[in-house]
Amino acid sequence: MRTQVGIVGAGPAGLMLSHLLHLGGVESVIVENRSREYVERRVRAGVLEQGTVDLLVATGVGQRLKRQGLVHHGIELCFARRRHRINFDELTNGRTITIYGQNEVVKDLTDSRLASGGQIFFEASNVRVWDFDGPRPRITFVQGDKEHEIVCDFIAGCDGFHGVCRKSIPQGALTIYEQTYPFAWLGILARTPPSANEIIYCHHERGFALHSMRSPELSRLYLQCAPDEDLANWPDERIWEELKARSQTDETWELRPGPILQKGITEMRSFVAEPMRYGSLFLAGDAAHIVPATGAKGLNLAMADVAVLARAFNEYYRTGRHDLLDRYSEVCLRRVWKVQRFSWWMTSMLHRFDSDTAFDRRRRLAELEYVVSSRAASQALAENYVGFPFE
Ligand code: APR
Ligand code: PHB
Repeated sequence: MRTQVGIVGAGPAGLMLSHLLHLGGVESVIVENRSREYVERRVRAGVLEQGTVDLLVATGVGQRLKRQGLVHHGIELCFARRRHRINFDELTNGRTITIYGQNEVVKDLTDSRLASGGQIFFEASNVRVWDFDGPRPRITFVQGDKEHEIVCDFIAGCDGFHGVCRKSIPQGALTIYEQTYPFAWLGILARTPPSANEIIYCHHERGFALHSMRSPELSRLYLQCAPDEDLANWPDERIWEELKARSQTDETWELRPGPILQKGITEMRSFVAEPMRYGSLFLAGDAAHIVPATGAKGLNLAMADVAVLARAFNEYYRTGRHDLLDRYSEVCLRRVWKVQRFSWWMTSMLHRFDSDTAFDRRRRLAELEYVVSSRAASQALAENYVGFPFE
């Protein structure tokens, strides 16, 4: 089989790239190792920047998002038993964020690709990428008991952090920047109305907690935990008690426990592989970089990458010029590093570190106090949180 751009991974990055290429008249084929049901059910992040929403809407895949997405005009920070609002309307000239699950974005994009004749191979095993240092790169895989080969002009590695593409690049060709954190998040999805109208980030001496949501009936909540935490140690009552303790304030406010539908551990890591290209293999999204979830940026960064990559491919096929492809990595990395800094900063400010001294603890409270009391500091948080315009 032959195509113009062979895409590995049907997550948000791979699907959106395929969608944008299709709109530009460029052919692509996606190879995904999981089943469609698995990918569509996997609960991940849920905060869309304004730029991500605008891109989905402008390219015709935003109808359900417009109907069901929850538009938020601010977030809250909670510490020292008080909650403080960061007002995006006032601080960013009316920019907003939208709560809409990543798996819903994936559903919408998959439906749209399949409806317009797009080809996605699900449940592909033994996926490999070959010859991307030459003019005829190939993707091979097995589906059922059949071996497949896709010959392409380019390969897009959109296969997430644990995928095969980045690992296939020769050692030494990439520079890796990495930081791990001495904690993880225990996340739950619960059938209970959100306890507040907006997302609340809680800093507490027992550890960080986060209140988010997926719909008026579904809450998404997280607790800082040990990186090797065993879920067996967290019966439902303990989770609710801990969430309550970490988000306690002096005002009356009720956390409404409900049935827990899913529980999982999310590791916290900062990671960048540079450059985001090797020969005719281009890395996008989590395959190239990871941010800790505290800034809610992973999905948005993936969308920003593929917006740049699709424009470069579309330009190449329209005019034969490859200058946008040549600048792909450099353009993306500018945004990636800004977002790395922001995600690291939110993570450092809001979590409890076992290594903290008494000085560190007071300094962190002073930083939070500064962020909520200075317009300049709140604005710096707000403009990063709603996201910079897509290049
Ligand atoms: N072959 C084929 N597909 C693969 C392989 C492989 N060897 N390895 C992984 N995949 C698939 C995964 O099953 C997944 O569907 O690649 C896809 C990668 O999707 P994501 O991990 O969602 O990554 P990305 O599309 O870059 O999305 C960005 O934002 O919220 C964050 O981390 C979160 O996934 C999110 C990311
Ligand atoms: C989520 O709703 O899943 C969510 C919200 C904010 C974050 C991370 C995750 O920072």
